Amino acid sequence: AKHLLGIEPLHPTEITTLLDLADSYAEHNRRGIAHRDVLAGLTQINMFFENSTRTQASFELAGKRLGADVMNMGMQASSVKKGETLIDTALTLNAMRPDLLVVRHPHSGAVDLLAQKVNCAVLNAGDGKHEHPTQALLDALTIRRAKGRLHRLSIAICGDIAHSRVARSNIMLLGKMENRIRLIAPPTLMPSGVADFGVEVFENMEEGLKDVDVVMMLRLQKERMDGGFIPSEREYFHRYGLDAAKLAHAKPDAIVMHPGPMNRGVEIDGNIADDINRSVIQEQVEMGVAVRMAAMDLLAQNLRAARGPQEVMV
Ligand code: CP
Repeated sequence: AKHLLGIEPLHPTEITTLLDLADSYAEHNRRGIAHRDVLAGLTQINMFFENSTRTQASFELAGKRLGADVMNMGMQASSVKKGETLIDTALTLNAMRPDLLVVRHPHSGAVDLLAQKVNCAVLNAGDGKHEHPTQALLDALTIRRAKGRLHRLSIAICGDIAHSRVARSNIMLLGKMENRIRLIAPPTLMPSGVADFGVEVFENMEEGLKDVDVVMMLRLQKERMDGGFIPSEREYFHRYGLDAAKLAHAKPDAIVMHPGPMNRGVEIDGNIADDINRSVIQEQVEMGVAVRMAAMDLLAQNLRAARGPQEVMV
């Protein structure tokens, strides 16, 4: 593929290839082995039109570990503030001949649109409520390393599913790999028609968490609720916040995940998040670097193959 815009078009074998490569990068990262030849001579531009800690930092680190020239566009200080459109901004940067463009945008579909206007590889770092493909891939790698497999697991995704691109990408990825997916949310935060994706739907945490292998918690995405129903945090934590009593319904060796940023005491009890016997939240962050290295490595291979050898002299 030319771009990584979402999980939807990926075949299970492509997912496995990427995870295998990411797994080897994860081991090399732990041993301090860099691979600066992989993206040497290539330019990576990170454009984040929405706040980020994990995704932005890990894409930057991933590019640097692979030897790319990495530029972070500070979108808050850019000419977007003077009214320049997304497309004009993209065309301007495209004229500087980048090879990899990493884009986060608050509008669903904005990254796909941008990819049609540029002639470099585009990686979606999260677009509105639509997709966050590298998050689903790093979650998949974390699950595979913790559980030894990525199929026939029972996985609960809990909380604000309606506004979550993380949930959407994970539902697609974990479904393609033949896992049983349970979605747990209050009716106001459950998207309609979601049962068509072959998932089970629950309103009650205790029922939904029964005997699952993986518990994936989500943040309340208040910034996407556009004036609609926003639950009280106290009430929400009481009914949907993951605490020891609710987690006791899952399998005794169930792992706890959260993509971050996390709101302690809202969707998750801080003690559960910090419990190194159950929580793999820090491992998720670590795998984020490895997965983004693998994604950019594979796209760069395709880019070089498409361009031919004469254009990639370093
Ligand atoms: N999980 C995630 O996308 O986190 P950031 O918003 O900090 O990048």
